Amino acid sequence: MSDDSRPSPTAVPTAVVIPAAGRGVRLGPGAPKALRTLHGTPMLIHALRAMAASRAVSLVVVVAPPDGVAEVKSLLDAYALPGGTSGGSWGSTDFLVVPGGDSRQESVRLGLDALPPQYGIVLVHDAARPLVPVETVDAVIEAVRDGAPAVVPALPLADTVKEVEPAVVPGGPEPVLATPDRSRLRAVQTPQGFDRATLVRAHETVKDNVTDDAGMVEQLGLPVVAVPGHEEAFKVTRPLDLVLAEAVLARRRLTDGF
Ligand code: CTP
Ligand code: MG
Repeated sequence: MSDDSRPSPTAVPTAVVIPAAGRGVRLGPGAPKALRTLHGTPMLIHALRAMAASRAVSLVVVVAPPDGVAEVKSLLDAYALPGGTSGGSWGSTDFLVVPGGDSRQESVRLGLDALPPQYGIVLVHDAARPLVPVETVDAVIEAVRDGAPAVVPALPLADTVKEVEPAVVPGGPEPVLATPDRSRLRAVQTPQGFDRATLVRAHETVKDNVTDDAGMVEQLGLPVVAVPGHEEAFKVTRPLDLVLAEAVLARRRLTDGF
């Protein structure tokens, strides 16, 4: 039997950077967001499993809260798959833990700095999107392998979007300036996938604080393509998102014994 868990020797080695250093202010008081649990398992572990589920992914770099590196390392050891080498791997996926920075952008850059040279394709995936299906991860990797320098999973919007003049006093009425054509708008998710050299150059060149890595590549004037995202790749941001995430896990447990 061939070993299907390893990428073919000709495939460009692929790594994932998981920024997990945020506090989760919008979720309310408590542990850093990535360490809060869903069905008893930390969000970061769900996100890491989602990445390790892709056969193409051979390394995950977790960017931990600066004061939480030791805690994250022991967490990864505690949840490592049987057969994995304690402290270094989850089955056939290796992991590293590095301290993050003050912004998501800085955390991603610190993760990129820790990448060994052989990884030519890099995905960046929010720890706060713990439930992304492996099909979405694989679709992003495939589009990068096909030659796109930057790839985002994206979904059409459910709501109509208005551009407004933001109120000076929060909660005050806001004049509506325009209604963009919704059929041309997409909400983007992660994992976003990149040719490594392109993403590194974007992080060296673009200094504005952006929340989206692909947006930095756009600023370099390079093409970014969107592939279909998935509704289960939503970001856990506010308390209601925790309710939805728990419900998705409960449904998965019923349908596939997960
Ligand atoms: N992130 C990070 N380093 C930071 C800020 C954010 O690694 N300094 C990570 C978060 O851990 C998360 C991802 O970036 O996985 C997306 O950010 P977001 O959803 O905004 O998470 P938080 O910044 O933690 O949440 P909030 O903005 O509500 O504080
Ligand atoms: Mg944030």
